[in-house]
Amino acid sequence: MSSDLGFVHRYLPGEDESSPTLLLLHGTGGNEEDLIPLGQELAPGAAILSPRGKVSEFGAPRFFRRLAEGVFDLEDLIFRTHELAEFVEAASEEYGFDLSKLVAVGYSNGANVAASTILLHPGLLQAAVLFRAMVPFEPEETPDLSGMPVFMAAGRRDTIIPPDNAQHLAEILAEAGADVDLRWRDTGHPLTYEEVGEAKEWLSNMLPKLSDAQDRM
Ligand code: MLT
Repeated sequence: MSSDLGFVHRYLPGEDESSPTLLLLHGTGGNEEDLIPLGQELAPGAAILSPRGKVSEFGAPRFFRRLAEGVFDLEDLIFRTHELAEFVEAASEEYGFDLSKLVAVGYSNGANVAASTILLHPGLLQAAVLFRAMVPFEPEETPDLSGMPVFMAAGRRDTIIPPDNAQHLAEILAEAGADVDLRWRDTGHPLTYEEVGEAKEWLSNMLPKLSDAQDRM
């Protein structure tokens, strides 16, 4: 565990220099350790950057404040999103991972801050896996997300993320040009084993397409 760079976090180097990096973003009440096994299952050999959300809700870490379930403190959300983006950029310099191969994997509150990062910092994340995400805020301007691969897994019986809200997020991202693959299951808020398998398969097709920064120079 390291608390440098402004966030308590874990960084695990990838197998080699060309490995992608997964930015792991936990759900409410989680921490920087929680999603590491999931990240290792989803993309074996990838580097892992896993911060702990800096907001405490009665002791439960989150990535931004909320006023009630599903009602977000927008000022805090925007501030925290910029803060997370700065951390990611600083971590890339500190650890030497390639931002052009950075893929977010978020669950619930972590998926929501990932969605907010996609909307406020287009281009920072090259791709994203959003498990149980909802609309973080309605963007005033449509960002350019041309061709950005986004995998979403949503539950038809999720009592925390209203299904039509998850659908709306997929539409916002797709209208901005993202290549959204939204998968539905007859399940609730917790992640299922089958969805992890689907995300793993999606990543195994997508990750080889992320090019090295050098390749593009
Ligand atoms: C949020 O607050 O980001 C969502 O409602 C999901 C959660 O409970 O974390």
